[in-house]
Amino acid sequence: MSYDLIVIGTGPGGYVCAIRAAQLGMKVAVVEKRASLGGTCLNIGCIPSKALLHASELFEEAGHAFAKMGIGVSKPKLDLKQMLVFKDEAVDGNVKGVDFLMKKNKIDVVYGAGRITAPGKVEVKAADGKTQTLETKNIVIATGSDVTQLKGITIDEKRVVSSTGALTLEKVPEKLLVIGAGVIGLELGSVWRRLGAQVTVVEFLDRILPGMDSEVARQSQRLFEKQGMTFKLGSKVTSVDTSGKKLKVNVEPAKGGETETLDADVVLVAIGRVPYIEGLGLQEVGVALDERGRVKTDAHFATNVPGIYAIGDVIAGPMLAHKAEDEGVAVSEIIAGQAGHVNYDVIPAVVYTYPEIASVGKSEDDLKAENHAYNVGKFPFTANGRAKANQQTEGFVKILADAKTDRVLGVHIVGADAGNMIAEAAVAMEFGASSEDIARTCHAHPTLPEAVKEAALAVDKRAIHM
Ligand code: FAD
Ligand code: NAI
Repeated sequence: MSYDLIVIGTGPGGYVCAIRAAQLGMKVAVVEKRASLGGTCLNIGCIPSKALLHASELFEEAGHAFAKMGIGVSKPKLDLKQMLVFKDEAVDGNVKGVDFLMKKNKIDVVYGAGRITAPGKVEVKAADGKTQTLETKNIVIATGSDVTQLKGITIDEKRVVSSTGALTLEKVPEKLLVIGAGVIGLELGSVWRRLGAQVTVVEFLDRILPGMDSEVARQSQRLFEKQGMTFKLGSKVTSVDTSGKKLKVNVEPAKGGETETLDADVVLVAIGRVPYIEGLGLQEVGVALDERGRVKTDAHFATNVPGIYAIGDVIAGPMLAHKAEDEGVAVSEIIAGQAGHVNYDVIPAVVYTYPEIASVGKSEDDLKAENHAYNVGKFPFTANGRAKANQQTEGFVKILADAKTDRVLGVHIVGADAGNMIAEAAVAMEFGASSEDIARTCHAHPTLPEAVKEAALAVDKRAIHM
């Protein structure tokens, strides 16, 4: 059997790429070495983490927010085993959805580890050791990423865990020490704090969420601290002693200084992810990598070897599922001779904590660094009717617009449902909107997105409710 396209990896990049290629009339196969489709995102990433964030948020709300609304419930009791079943069902439902989509689009699914032996040839080794070689006109590498290891610290996924182990802890740890105040540290740290753990986050830099707008990061940190999380910024973990009943974690200032030893039941290592290319045969076939070990591609996702493309976490850019998906669509369109394209200036990012933190486009820090003249409009949820009605008034919307043209350059939201609200900003930016365009768009009342409109009005210093 010869294919038009073989996609290696079925994460959000790979399976979406395969579907788009099939829609465009190509004969497509996907190769997946995991026993289920969907990649990191569906199996051990986006979906299980969001299921636990949802369940743990309701658990916490039932404990403190229901009574003031006049909803009498007895103190909620945690059945962690059932909560993990709920999470597994969420994964299972999504994986089955991808299975269905592969069948619907007549895409062949080949389970096993793929290795490129030559352009147009993919050898697949199944779990039982049997190998077969598939032939194809084009190959897309969509093999994703893996956990970054911390030198000298061994992850056993029981007591010293990565995000994968943190999704399956059998007991709520009394003390959870998180290394890294990035997205995973804050999301999974929030899950276990809500379920009863004391959470300390050790971060190398002197701020949380590097890369995000620093005002947003500062305000979010304050909110997390109010919820009971402790941060040790400008600090690094130098070792974890696993010999006793409690883990002994040595922490020292990033710039050097006195070591402090902290107790923990579980340590979560969340210091980033690295591209995954193990066993793919890239060196043999001559596919070039960049200085950070990512597959090097041009603006059309092509590697230096004709007929081999790459997308998603394994190439440069933010390691986000929707970025991988959009690249999957674009590369299939390019292979089909169309003009596939991804606008990297408008890729939203969301941290699914409470409150949520969402951003798209430039941060204020970016604009300052670029000496770009801008105006800022801010609006707090304390002045939004719906947020007040729901008593969810934490956070604000911040819009950054070009000082001369008023074009929206970046939008940052801290607040309940910020992840849904950022979509409006992304659409506006794709259409090259000015803040005036958003300000003059009728927004339904009473809704949280009215705060986006008010922030847009605030760019011109004419917010109504402030
Ligand atoms: P992946 O999803 O990593 O898929 C790659 C697939 O390739 C895997 O299934 C792997 O088994 C397979 N593979 C690798 N090598 C081979 C081979 N040689 N042969 C065959 N198959 C192979 N992003 C968001 O946008 N939103 C979120 O809420 C979010 N939450 C996350 C939470 C956690 C805990 C983690 C870890 C990540 C999260 N992410 C989130 C990031 C998101 O999961 C990734 O950006 C996304 O999965 C990348 O997609 P991908 O298709 O590039 O690769
Ligand atoms: P991250 O890059 O978001 O954060 C890692 C943090 O660890 C940074 O703050 C960094 O300064 C810090 N750090 C690095 N080395 C350290 C050290 N030695 N000691 C202490 N701190 C150290 O990475 P994270 O949280 O592991 O997530 C990986 C990727 O997964 C992210 O790139 C993200 O895009 C993706 N993801 C996305 C989610 C979402 O979209 N909601 C959810 C979870 C993950």
